[in-house]
Amino acid sequence: MAGRLAGKVAVITGAGSGIGAASAELFCREGAKVVIVDISGKQEDVAKRIGANCLPFHADVSKGKDVQAMLAKAVSEFGRLDILYNNASIIGEMNLAGEYSEEGYDQVMAVNARSVFLGIRYAIPLMLKQGGGSIVNTASMASVVAFHAQIAYCGAKAAVVMMTKAAATEYAGKKIRVNAILPGPIKTGMTAGMDQAALDVVYKATPMGRMAEASEVANLALFLASDESSFITGSTILIDGGYTSL
Ligand SMILES: NC(=O)c1ccc[n+]([C@@H]2O[C@H](COP(=O)([O-])OP(=O)(O)OC[C@H]3O[C@@H](n4cnc5c(N)ncnc54)[C@H](O)[C@@H]3O)[C@@H](O)[C@H]2O)c1
Repeated sequence: MAGRLAGKVAVITGAGSGIGAASAELFCREGAKVVIVDISGKQEDVAKRIGANCLPFHADVSKGKDVQAMLAKAVSEFGRLDILYNNASIIGEMNLAGEYSEEGYDQVMAVNARSVFLGIRYAIPLMLKQGGGSIVNTASMASVVAFHAQIAYCGAKAAVVMMTKAAATEYAGKKIRVNAILPGPIKTGMTAGMDQAALDVVYKATPMGRMAEASEVANLALFLASDESSFITGSTILIDGGYTSL
């Protein structure tokens, strides 16, 4: 199949909804074979909608065994692993730092940061064997600016940024590129569940004056996943309508 990802095999996490689902659709359209990973069950609907060249996979990305299994699935079904898009995450507990629970902190760090470590940890040996690959991690503009009542989310996303750089520098000479996307306010399942007043504050402070569509982030993920970004590694790219430039 022709396309910007022709011949490539990708695993996308958090692909039952929002940015991950939009990326799965776009990656398939551009010729990739895609393992669509989620914990929610919605990966089944996304795979049905796309049709050929993809398969749904149930995994909890905070668990090492699940992450190993989802990557192994790509290799056993599609023969290789070229792209890992570590995208799943949760908002988790929202609370002031002085009131935040230890359990809430552990959950957010496990789903949002440990998962990215696990993905990198288990994808790299597979990519080394085949001579290269591209890892894309979804961080957030919350890794560079603070958001109220989200100490764990902000901390986890900042960890994603530095894990991206650490892995990128270690494997740059082995043709494995690692980059991060830092979205601003995007219309997805995550923001649909948030308090409208809090969202209004964010998007009114966004110079572009709107939230983005998930497909706009998927376009950036496609570029970073593809060979078009062949000299880009360790980069953390904001896609925030100008929010953090003010
Ligand atoms: N929407 C925004 O405004 C925004 C802003 C900045 C960053 N982000 C980031 O974008 C990424 C995608 O989020 P989204 O906005 O599309 O949200 P979303 O809620 O629509 O999608 C997230 C998906 O991750 C899945 N998921 C949650 N925990 C999981 C687990 N343990 N194992 C496997 N899957 C799990 C959910 O089921 C869901 O389908 C996330 O990393 C998020 O932090 C989003």
